[in-house]
Amino acid sequence: MAPEEIDLPLEDLVLRRWEPDDAPRALAAVEASLPELRRFMPWAMETPTLATVGAFLEMAWRPPESFGFGLWEPDGQVVGAAGLHGRRGPGILEIGYWVRSDRTGRGYATAAAGALTNVSFEHFAGVDRVEIRCDPANAASAAVAAKLGYRLDRREDVDIEAEGQTGVQLVWAVSRATWRPSAGRPARPEARTRR
Ligand SMILES: CC(C)(COP(=O)(O)OP(=O)(O)OC[C@H]1O[C@@H](n2cnc3c(N)ncnc32)[C@H](O)[C@@H]1OP(=O)(O)O)[C@@H](O)C(=O)NCCC(=O)NCCS
Repeated sequence: MAPEEIDLPLEDLVLRRWEPDDAPRALAAVEASLPELRRFMPWAMETPTLATVGAFLEMAWRPPESFGFGLWEPDGQVVGAAGLHGRRGPGILEIGYWVRSDRTGRGYATAAAGALTNVSFEHFAGVDRVEIRCDPANAASAAVAAKLGYRLDRREDVDIEAEGQTGVQLVWAVSRATWRPSAGRPARPEARTRR
């Protein structure tokens, strides 16, 4: 079982289990990021509303299949999301994420994905492999995986029905044996300046 709240080693960020009451703040973050989300997140193609975001949040925490978190700054703003998903089969968890557009480039996704990789191996005894999947054109997402020490495992044809997209995905993976729990931690988090 994943913890409901995870402190990140950057900017006092927290990953906190989504609750239905978070819908207005989650919607604001999605609306502020729509052009960027729409490049790579099929769910963002439909115009989001309080109802659709609320319905998503209702389904975000479904142990043992899915653990969806909001990414929160200390003042209570939603600045992204990240999740752990068991949809790739036994012994595998997949991490997904997005960051509010005005907060990209600060290490937020790397901090979130690194923390969720730690959780995968520390809290799920049967998990031996964690994956991050991205579109080949998504250089920022690939950079997150690479910075964390994930290896590019393969390119995979995407199942249109399941993924809501066409084409190919890059499958990045790390194993329990090769994961370094400190991967992706900024050496001096306080030294990262806001742009
Ligand atoms: C992908 C995404 C989550 C990255 O979030 P982020 O918080 O900016 O990520 P980080 O700051 O931790 O790391 C991003 C890295 O990508 C690099 N990067 C960004 N754009 C890049 C580009 N076009 N080419 C190469 N590298 C790029 C950054 O330089 C950074 O690496 P660095 O720290 O070594 O400089 C964010 O851009 C996003 O939400 N995009 C839209 C949704 C999405 O694509 N989600 C992922 C689906 S798989």
